[in-house]
Amino acid sequence: MIKFAPDLEKIPESGAGSQCRCSNKTYVTIATMKVLRTVSSLQEAMESCRRAGQTIGLVPTMGALHDGHLSLMKRARADNDVVVASVFVNPTQFNNQTDLLTYPRTEEADCAALETAGVDFAFIPSVEEIYPEPDTRTFDLGPVAQVMEGAMRPGHFNGVAQIVSKLFSMVGPTRAYFGEKDFQQIAVIRRMAQLEDFDFDIVACPIVRESDGLAMSSRNVRLTPEQRAVAPTIHRVLAESLDLARTASVAEVKQWVKERIDATPFMSTEYYEIVNPLTMQPTDCWLTPDGPATGCITVYCGDVRLIDNITYKI
Ligand code: PAJ
Repeated sequence: MIKFAPDLEKIPESGAGSQCRCSNKTYVTIATMKVLRTVSSLQEAMESCRRAGQTIGLVPTMGALHDGHLSLMKRARADNDVVVASVFVNPTQFNNQTDLLTYPRTEEADCAALETAGVDFAFIPSVEEIYPEPDTRTFDLGPVAQVMEGAMRPGHFNGVAQIVSKLFSMVGPTRAYFGEKDFQQIAVIRRMAQLEDFDFDIVACPIVRESDGLAMSSRNVRLTPEQRAVAPTIHRVLAESLDLARTASVAEVKQWVKERIDATPFMSTEYYEIVNPLTMQPTDCWLTPDGPATGCITVYCGDVRLIDNITYKI
């Protein structure tokens, strides 16, 4: 049973669930996930965990949880004594009001999923709790934030840096977990962490896909059945481009990918860039000094904006 507690009553010794033996000698899990809604209750809980010498894994999300998110929870569960997940649709990272207003909100289902994934604390604050006054901080995120998503969504990464830096400060995690689906976001968060002297592990986790290859995303539910049917083309074309990359140049592959996507019904490429995996700067080489190049794509499928990427390990 999920406990909705404005303030913390009891901190579990470890893990989300404890096991007990019932009279019929089968084991059942009694979950003890706490839902925290205030910064002070979160800080109090985290302080208690740290005092007890427990490691803390943090997984920030905006909710509407799917198996992609839950893979981060599972990784955090495996690595840490305590797992905290935040569910907060952060207004400062939306540069489009419609996108903010139409962002799916499914709190009850999210809590059930988090509890099943073994999360100890779900932090689900209101906007006023996080931003009692406007956050006017501007982060010097540098070149990693100036290309691709940074160029297309002005202010987006500054908003991400604002909320993630607040969460990092409030939680004081041992490790924080992010998905490679948002490949550039990880680079931006690493940069923010460096600027703010956050000295803990930022763990990048692989993309989780639907069985037809479409990268899982909270936005997928907004696709019409016809759009959903063609959406796996994005990953298929990227995967096929790996073969082409063995014999073709970066410029040729970029053009080939864009043409294939744009020839698909409902689809229009916003950008396809092949970049250095650390600096996010466009590259002409398949193997950069920082590892294999990564292709990052954003496609409009109808009015739904989908992102994906692929690593050119060739
Ligand atoms: P959100 O889109 O909810 O994603 C939360 C985390 O889940 C991110 O680290 C994202 O990369 C990861 N994720 C989403 N889909 C995934 C998939 N298919 N496979 C693997 N990981 C996936 O990203 C955000 O929220 C926000 O910007 C946030 C970091 C929470 C700041 O508000």
